[in-house]
Amino acid sequence: MFLSGTLMTVFIALFGVLLGTILGLLLSVMKISKIKVLQALASVYVEFIRGTPLLVQVYIIYFGLPAIGIKLDPVLASIVAVSINSGAYVAEIIRGGINAVDTGQLEAGRTLGMSYYQALRYIVIPQAFKNILPALGNEFITIIKESSIVSVIGVADLMYNANTVRNQTYLPFTPLLFAALIYFVLTFGLSRLLKGLERKWAR
Ligand code: ARG
Repeated sequence: MFLSGTLMTVFIALFGVLLGTILGLLLSVMKISKIKVLQALASVYVEFIRGTPLLVQVYIIYFGLPAIGIKLDPVLASIVAVSINSGAYVAEIIRGGINAVDTGQLEAGRTLGMSYYQALRYIVIPQAFKNILPALGNEFITIIKESSIVSVIGVADLMYNANTVRNQTYLPFTPLLFAALIYFVLTFGLSRLLKGLERKWAR
């Protein structure tokens, strides 16, 4: 139960962040673009998603959408909800990563005769990567923990399976403690891995 729950948790988090990153990339391009309507749309999306609980978003996708004929099974609904949620956070990660590159870098590129987009492409974006990749790793860590929310719609993730074990064994404490331990091993292991990568990229 713990093994299959862990695999489900990692599966949902992985696809959630992967699709969320694609969505976040799109949103951040909309935000950086000079087109006001796109900027506004992306802002409304990001603010609304970040300003509402993931729990409510999961409920809306799973219990709400069937009312307009969109019925998703729990695992798919979870991945959709997590992706929609993560996209908003990733959009901010990308925008922040690009903004964090000193404007002098862009100006230096322009001075050397590059166009605005060339300077972005060859000077700013490569440097922004150094800020964005570690933050994306953190987003993955966050989603591993936050995805425990999907247990409320019956997805057999780590949290849900720990509860099943708890119910079947009448052990009130140890199954939950063990689930916590597994979450911790996942997130701590990942964060150590990230630190190592960051050090490599810094060089
Ligand atoms: N518990 C948070 C909420 O309900 C989840 C935020 C998800 N965070 C993230 N980085 N995708 O709003």
